[in-house]
Amino acid sequence: MIKTVKDVNLAGKRVIMRVDFNVPMKDGVVQDDTRITAALPTIKYILDQGVKTLTLMSHLGDPAKDAKKAREKAEKDGKPFDEAAYIRAKHRMAPVAAYLEKKLGKPVIFAGEDSDYGKKAFIESQKDGSVIMLENTRFHKEETAKEASDRDKLAKELASYGEIFVNDAFGTAHRDHASTASIAKFVPLSVAGFLMEKEVNYLEPIVTNPQKPLVAIIGGAKVSSKIAVLESLLKNAAALVIGGGMAYTFLKAQGCRIGKSLVEDDQLDTAKAILEAAKKAGVEILLPVDHVGAETFDAAAKPVPVEGVDLPANLMGLDVGPETLAKYREVLAKAKTIVWNGPVGVFEFDAFAKGTEEVAKLVAEATGRGAITVVGGGDSVAAVNKFGLASKMSHVSTGGGASLELLEGKKLPGIEVTRG
Ligand code: 3PG
Repeated sequence: MIKTVKDVNLAGKRVIMRVDFNVPMKDGVVQDDTRITAALPTIKYILDQGVKTLTLMSHLGDPAKDAKKAREKAEKDGKPFDEAAYIRAKHRMAPVAAYLEKKLGKPVIFAGEDSDYGKKAFIESQKDGSVIMLENTRFHKEETAKEASDRDKLAKELASYGEIFVNDAFGTAHRDHASTASIAKFVPLSVAGFLMEKEVNYLEPIVTNPQKPLVAIIGGAKVSSKIAVLESLLKNAAALVIGGGMAYTFLKAQGCRIGKSLVEDDQLDTAKAILEAAKKAGVEILLPVDHVGAETFDAAAKPVPVEGVDLPANLMGLDVGPETLAKYREVLAKAKTIVWNGPVGVFEFDAFAKGTEEVAKLVAEATGRGAITVVGGGDSVAAVNKFGLASKMSHVSTGGGASLELLEGKKLPGIEVTRG
C-alpha cells in the first residue's frame, strides 16, 4: 500500500512536493495544462491543512539533451550558440509558476533564478501558507546523475526545504532522480499525492489482480517498445488487440503479405514468440484482418480500402478496416477491464483516424456499461482528447513512460518511496 497525504498530519509543517509540470510549452506559453490541473486537488488539500510552506518542484523538458541538439544544429549552420540563454528561454519554470498561480487563485512565489541550492532561508522567510515554486530541477546535473552519491547532493538540499516529501509526479515516477526518489532518504516522511494514488489504483491492479475478463489494446508504431508490456499483459488478459504499425511485424511473422507497411524485421522472432506464448496461455490475439491502405505516408494520401489480411505490394496499412472493427466490438463487449496503450491507426491523419476513433468509442461504451477502462501513453491519450471522449474513460493516465513501465510490472522508484 502506498501512503498518502491523508495518512500524515500536515498542520504546521513544511512540505516539499514533486509535481510533474513537464507540460508542452511554446514561446513561454503552456499549451496543455492537463498535468497542472491534475495536481491541483493535492495542492489544495495540503494548503487546507494549514501548512507553513508548500514548496513545489518539477522538471520541464530535458535542458541538457535539448541544448546539445540545438548546439549541434547551430554548429552545423555555422551560427553562434549561447547555451545558457537557450536553456533560460526554453526551460525556465517561471511561466509555469505564473500559470499555476492563475489556476490556484493564490500567489505562487517563484524561487528561481538559476539554482535551487541555498533556498532554505528564502522559503522560511515566507509567511505561513505560502506556495513556492523552485526552478527546473534538471538545471542541476545531480538531478539525473548516474551515481546515487551525486544525486544525493541535490536530494539532501531539497530535503532541507521540508519535513514531509509529497510525490504527486506520476509522469516522472519511473525516473530514479534526486527530486523523485533520492530525496526520500533525507526527509522524515514521504507520501503520495492524490494523483499518484489514483494512477496507481487504476494501473497496478491490471498487472496484479484485474477484474476479468481483461482486454488489452496495444498499438503504436514499434513492437520493440511494447514487448515487455505484451509479455506482462499475457498473464492476465483474455484477449490482446494488437494494432497500429506494430501489427504489421506480427502479420509478417505469420506469413501474411504486408506490402509497404512499417515492419521491424529484427523483431520477427520476438513477434513469433509472443504469438506462441499467447497460444499456450490461451490468450486470444486480435490482429487486423482488413485495412485502410495508402501508397504514401502522408496526410493527403488517398485512403484505399483493403479487404482481407494481405496487402498489395504498392500499399502500406495505415488503419484497420471494418471487419477488424467488428471483431474489436465483439471482444470488447465482454470485457470487465480494458487497458489501452497506443493507437490502432495513423489517427493524426483524418483519412486514417476511423479505426482509432471507433476504438475510443467502444472503450467509452464499455465504461458506460460498468467496465473499468484505463488509457495510458501519450498517443492514445491524445486520441481520446481529439475525439472528445476523455471524460468517458474511467481513467486517463498523465504518464506515458511511467504508465507503460507500471503495466510492464516494474517497480517505479517514485512510487516505491511512498510505500508504507
Ligand atoms: C514525461 O513527460 O514522460 C515525464 O515528464 C518524464 O519526462 P522524461 O521522459 O524527460 O524523463
